[in-house]
Amino acid sequence: MSELDFSPPTSEWYYPSDEIIQHAHVPDYEAVVREAEADFEAFWAKRAEQLEWYEKWHTVLDSSDAPFYKWFVGGKTNIALNALDRHVKTWRRNKVALIWEGEPGDHLSFTYWRLWQETNRFANILRGMGVKKGDRVMIYMGRIPEIVFAMLACAKIGAIHSVVYGGFSEQALADRIADAQAKVLVTADGAWLRGKTVNLKEIADVAIQRSPSIQSVIVVKRTGQEVYMESGRDFWYHDLINLPIASTVCETEVMDAEDPLFILYTSGTTGKPKGVVHTHGGYQVYTSTTLEWVFDIKDDDRWWCAADPGWITGHSYIVYAPLILGATSFMYEGAPTYPYPNRWWKMIEYYGITILYTAPTAIRGLMRFGDAWPERHDLSSLRLLGSVGEPINPEAWRWFYRVIGKEKCPIMDTWWQTETGGFVITPLPSVPLKPGSATRPFPGMSVDVVDEEGNSCPPGQDGYLVIKRPWPSMLRTVYGDPQRYIDQYWSRYAEQGWYFAGDSARKDEDGYIWVIGRVDDVIKVSGYRLGTAEVESGLVSHPAVAEAAVIGVPDELRGNVIYAYCILVQGYEGNEQLEQELKEHIRHEVGPIAVPAKIEFVQSLPKTRSGKIMRRVLKARALGLPEGDLSTLEG
Ligand code: WT7
Repeated sequence: MSELDFSPPTSEWYYPSDEIIQHAHVPDYEAVVREAEADFEAFWAKRAEQLEWYEKWHTVLDSSDAPFYKWFVGGKTNIALNALDRHVKTWRRNKVALIWEGEPGDHLSFTYWRLWQETNRFANILRGMGVKKGDRVMIYMGRIPEIVFAMLACAKIGAIHSVVYGGFSEQALADRIADAQAKVLVTADGAWLRGKTVNLKEIADVAIQRSPSIQSVIVVKRTGQEVYMESGRDFWYHDLINLPIASTVCETEVMDAEDPLFILYTSGTTGKPKGVVHTHGGYQVYTSTTLEWVFDIKDDDRWWCAADPGWITGHSYIVYAPLILGATSFMYEGAPTYPYPNRWWKMIEYYGITILYTAPTAIRGLMRFGDAWPERHDLSSLRLLGSVGEPINPEAWRWFYRVIGKEKCPIMDTWWQTETGGFVITPLPSVPLKPGSATRPFPGMSVDVVDEEGNSCPPGQDGYLVIKRPWPSMLRTVYGDPQRYIDQYWSRYAEQGWYFAGDSARKDEDGYIWVIGRVDDVIKVSGYRLGTAEVESGLVSHPAVAEAAVIGVPDELRGNVIYAYCILVQGYEGNEQLEQELKEHIRHEVGPIAVPAKIEFVQSLPKTRSGKIMRRVLKARALGLPEGDLSTLEG
């Protein structure tokens, strides 16, 4: 026996309807790829020309200090100019920019005009607190409209925001504040989650005590719970906006294209978090182009990116790109299953959502409750669906396609990273789909799967995912640690000058890319290489298994063996018989080499806030080792 083929069936194709293709911004993927390949700098320059600049760039791409690439050099802009200022001068001033629903059921909406004013007020408050261009502002709050105001306000005055997801612990927040040396913290009294409140301010207070750089704290009232306010340091937002300083008009700071826009600490599962830096110029070009083409955003759409603004998905595709495109975005505060598992479907029906972009973990989570919940609702407004964050198992893909999309909504499975700023491997609506594959690179992107030496892997062979030339929204550095930027991303293929993504993948005969998972999640069993995602997908394809995680545990004979942890669907009992049945199932679904040595039935799995399973924690538990930094673990 040589190499086992773990590829999901590549013969399962899903073709878009003529209606979908005709409606699309890019009806012909190949044609645009050819255009971009002919002259990729000209291609990106043309995209940049769609946006407003105070002054045009003189150089599209400067590679002289590679890998510290610079884009649109000499260009003067501000992402807030494109996301807000330019819209209020057109008919869009009266278009709804943001629709928001709170978990308790309250809702609000903001036109571009209102959002522009709210942002201006917030920006003036920050300026009044002494925040200047280049200063860092930490944002730690839930999914409420004020988080959007705060981010845009920072952009407007040239401050660098760093959003810390509202579920991180005191120490994680303190570490990030210390790394960024932030001056101001924006937070809220609390946040609603599953009918309970999260004590954001209380957590922030502990972090602030460990953070001497923080001078002022802005507190938004959300839950109304009792909080401690330190006089002279903590200010209620609703008090500040009544001060004369909080005018609804605020001048936008003129920024260099390469000036930093934000720092976002990655939810990396190992080591100290990395502060990924993105800029005003290239980031606005790339995020708006990718959103427009991949999700075919039009003026009559109601776009719902169900991520959290605290993650890159939210930064790029809740806040910046939709606003740059002048779209209407929807944001929901709470848990998908609160108070019942139909909450999402109810909101899609109520608001007439046309595009839903979410994560496989959410899809699987909702799938567990069966088809009856979504079937109670009219989901006919949906036109496109999307997935991000981890490889989507074909089982979940098909359910999403059939039960939610009614077999008429193509699923855009987008592969990208905090570091890439925007979608990198992704279909466009006109591209035929295969469940579980993010399909092909976005036009202008040069992506490949290569071996250790950098040779392009033939179809079917596992290799490392690399990006072979720069792109406008690439991270510029690791904040305060340029060496780590080089080491982490550019040293593996230094000679070739390629970006190392840290993922393993394989191509198929059609040039479609199948992302297997993080390189550190690859398990070698008897010399065979297995992706955790493949075994998990196999387990989840059994009707009893709702969610699964597998790890590699050292074994004297085989190098590694697999341990599997399964959450069962309601009504199933985890016993010896089921364990045998699952082993047999994997033998058939994936191959004999993938059969777990041990299957444990569990109630929950350790996950990062972005929904990725922390196999490192499972591994430590299995081996009886310390579990390490759990700051990114979901509470
Ligand atoms: C890692 C990046 C980008 C927003 C969310 C995660 C994995 C992401 C996919 C996908 C397979 C995916 C990769 C990547 N990943 N999207 N569609 N298919 N894997 O951002 O936290 O920076 O994580 O998520 O392993 O390297 P992130």
